[in-house]
Amino acid sequence: MSFLSVTGVSKSYAGRPVLRGVSLEVERGSLTAVLGLSGCGKTTLLRVIAGFERAENGMLELGGSELDGPRRFVAPERRGIGYVPQEGALFPQLTVAGNVAFALPRAERRGARPQELMRMVGIDQLADRLPHQISGGEQQRVAIARALANEPAVLLADEPTGNLDRRNSEVVAEIFHGLAEGGQTIVMVTHDQTLAHKARRIVTMEDGKVVGDAATLREENLATDGARMDTDQK
Ligand SMILES: Nc1ncnc2c1ncn2[C@@H]1O[C@H](COP(=O)(O)OP(=O)(O)O)[C@@H](O)[C@H]1O
Ligand SMILES: [Mg+2]
Repeated sequence: MSFLSVTGVSKSYAGRPVLRGVSLEVERGSLTAVLGLSGCGKTTLLRVIAGFERAENGMLELGGSELDGPRRFVAPERRGIGYVPQEGALFPQLTVAGNVAFALPRAERRGARPQELMRMVGIDQLADRLPHQISGGEQQRVAIARALANEPAVLLADEPTGNLDRRNSEVVAEIFHGLAEGGQTIVMVTHDQTLAHKARRIVTMEDGKVVGDAATLREENLATDGARMDTDQK
């Protein structure tokens, strides 16, 4: 069974349909890339999963429990879902460490946890800088560290390399790949081929619908397929 399950989700803005029956199954510990032209509904899909928007039809489940559907609507802060917005959205007056710590419960802000989160994405050297004193790639890594603060069951990222040059994109792509290898479930929206090819699956959207869903030729896919065939033969 899949971990995050999106079933027939629809959403419109002012009567104009933006998501038209989107279904998506995400396995635990996997990295999924969502691709599609600008305006096809990618950000809206992430916002519905995060709970910033409510689905009009369909159902969203995480670990078998309903997040959004006919019976329930779980508030975004209670979903265990981390969100890296398209524009990193850091507090400009807070240091790197301050931005990361802010996402933590008050009691943990002064402990070892902010440092540990910054180390996970390689920005611990920048703890005392302000956002305008670091590069776009480093800012994106602060936003990732912040989204990981509460150990989310699922991490969502909206075009995390959208404004980055190639070198910074590669660093961010490596971070997502490493997080998924470590068991983090991730769904990211991207135009970036380098990033998309770190994913285990590429889901393609067009005009509010999923029109393609394919496994990439990654080693872990081949390993999983092999294991599945073994099981099937028993
Ligand atoms: N809050 C909103 N109010 C009205 N229309 C919106 C809103 N957000 C997005 N849209 C529209 O919905 C469509 C899909 O947007 P979006 O999900 O941001 O697409 P993508 O991320 O794939 O570029 C676009 O036509 C966009 O203009
Ligand atoms: Mg978008």
